[in-house]
Amino acid sequence: MADSAPATADKLPKDLAAEKGMVNVQIDDTWVQVPVGTRMIEACRMAGKEIPHYCYHTKLSSPGNCRMCLVQMGMPPRPAPGQAPTYEENGYQEIGWMPRPVIACANTVAENMGIRTGGDLVEKCRNGVMEFLLINHPLDCPICDQAGECSLQEFSVEHGRGCSRFEEMKVKKPKNVDIGPRIRLDDERCIMCSRCIRFMDEVADDPALGFIDRGTHTTLTVHPGHRLDSNYSLNTADICPVGALTSTDFRFQMRVWFLKETKSIDVNCGTGCNTVIWTRGNDIFRITPRENNEVNSCWMPDSHRLNFRYLHTETRLTDPVVKSRGRHEVADWFEAITRVSEGLKDYHGDEVAFIGSGRMTNEELFLLKHLADTLETDLLTLVPRFAQSDGKLIAADRNPNTTGAKLIWASNDPYAKLKAIRKGVAGRRIKALVVFYEDLLAEADFKASDLENLDLLVSNHILTNDTASVSHVVLPGAGFAEKRGSMVNITGRLQRLNQAILPPEGAMDDWEILRDLIRALAPNEPERNLVEDVFGEIADEVEEFEELTLSKIGDLGVHVTDTDESIPLLETERVRIAAGEIVG
Ligand code: SF4
Ligand code: FES
Repeated sequence: MADSAPATADKLPKDLAAEKGMVNVQIDDTWVQVPVGTRMIEACRMAGKEIPHYCYHTKLSSPGNCRMCLVQMGMPPRPAPGQAPTYEENGYQEIGWMPRPVIACANTVAENMGIRTGGDLVEKCRNGVMEFLLINHPLDCPICDQAGECSLQEFSVEHGRGCSRFEEMKVKKPKNVDIGPRIRLDDERCIMCSRCIRFMDEVADDPALGFIDRGTHTTLTVHPGHRLDSNYSLNTADICPVGALTSTDFRFQMRVWFLKETKSIDVNCGTGCNTVIWTRGNDIFRITPRENNEVNSCWMPDSHRLNFRYLHTETRLTDPVVKSRGRHEVADWFEAITRVSEGLKDYHGDEVAFIGSGRMTNEELFLLKHLADTLETDLLTLVPRFAQSDGKLIAADRNPNTTGAKLIWASNDPYAKLKAIRKGVAGRRIKALVVFYEDLLAEADFKASDLENLDLLVSNHILTNDTASVSHVVLPGAGFAEKRGSMVNITGRLQRLNQAILPPEGAMDDWEILRDLIRALAPNEPERNLVEDVFGEIADEVEEFEELTLSKIGDLGVHVTDTDESIPLLETERVRIAAGEIVG
């Protein structure tokens, strides 16, 4: 948006704006310029005026059915036949205001249009819309799970009457309806905005929802024989402006105003959906998507957002463990690090190998490579994790940081050495093996008998696993929500992982474990006190990270390298934006 340009001697504001593909719009007495084709609601937003709305969503089509976004509109009167338009001193035409309001979400701006976002007419109309929306709405806010993030509550405070004139019986509708495995429906709270129906149809490609019956009896439901079981169903709870659709997993677990929000990223695949981690104390209560139009729009798959409970399970590794006389015994960190460094320093070159994980951060991958370099071995690999893409947000590469490994290890194929290492372990040429964040028996086809023959097997993980059972030393690390760092997604976007909770007492952040191992083997190594120090070293060594810092990455990430990958859901969205179907 630009401030409207004043008329010059030979050009009117409309001509100056048209040259830039803009139009002049007067919003609450102030002239502004916005791009041609902008919806009125967006023009108001650009001018700093938020218009209340329910059915409108920038990523969905606009049916204009809730009528909450009413504004007053004006246009210059049409000149009589044969007469030219007249302009005032400021170069604009006088605005003739319409006596009735219009919806701002589905109408676009025009040259010399006037918009009033407040005033008697607008307030009265909004007041009336709110009154109708609340006629059959239950007064169950104190027990409604949406409290604290309910647009109906918010707008009724701002635009409602404050009391009800409705004395008749409210229409009763179904409550707590089981429409799918992860979503509950409370029909009587539904305000029929149809956001959920449109999302399932237009984004999830699974049109499972629809309205039945008419008038005040209109009810949202699943189509006969259908369930709301798409892997994107929880997004409907995010966009439902009221408490009609709620997450079965989260409902009644915690009031949202008690929760702390931490911006981070999803680590379940190479897309790296942007997320908010909602926590209280040291517990995660839910994970929701965060808008990033270069990564995940504002959506996220259910399977990824619900995959956090393992951080709170009994099977967490909580202390370093060292094997002594065939038994695992809890040790302190000094003892464990010393045991590993003493054990490793006897092996060099092809006698020792390192297996990392595509789930590790850039900082951890950098230090793991550094550790391998310290022992002069190039036997360093990741464990691949590929499956089918879902054609939307879930990438075929289920490792979130393969691209980061490629850049930091300067390798086109960071998985290349896995086979050779497996063979080397089976053939007993490799005597010592260090594995980070992977269970080699469950996920990399190693045999327990081969691992048992190693002189030294060191493993790091956050959960107990079969590789840990046969390891000489086990180093408990931190989960994705317990650490800071960065990753690069499949399209080459560098993004930040933020710490939402603390790792269990006794576990350690993985980059610190690697730092301490390097220092124990090479005491002259530089001191690395913060993860920022490690990022600084990456920025010095890796061209794509040059001049970047963790803080410069920002909340939405930075594109650092081109890849052949794209995110299918974003491609579909771009086509719809170009066709004018959605704002985007
Ligand atoms: Fe709108 Fe929610 Fe009703 Fe769906 S359930 S139509 S999102 S109010
Ligand atoms: Fe405009 Fe619903 S937001 S009609």
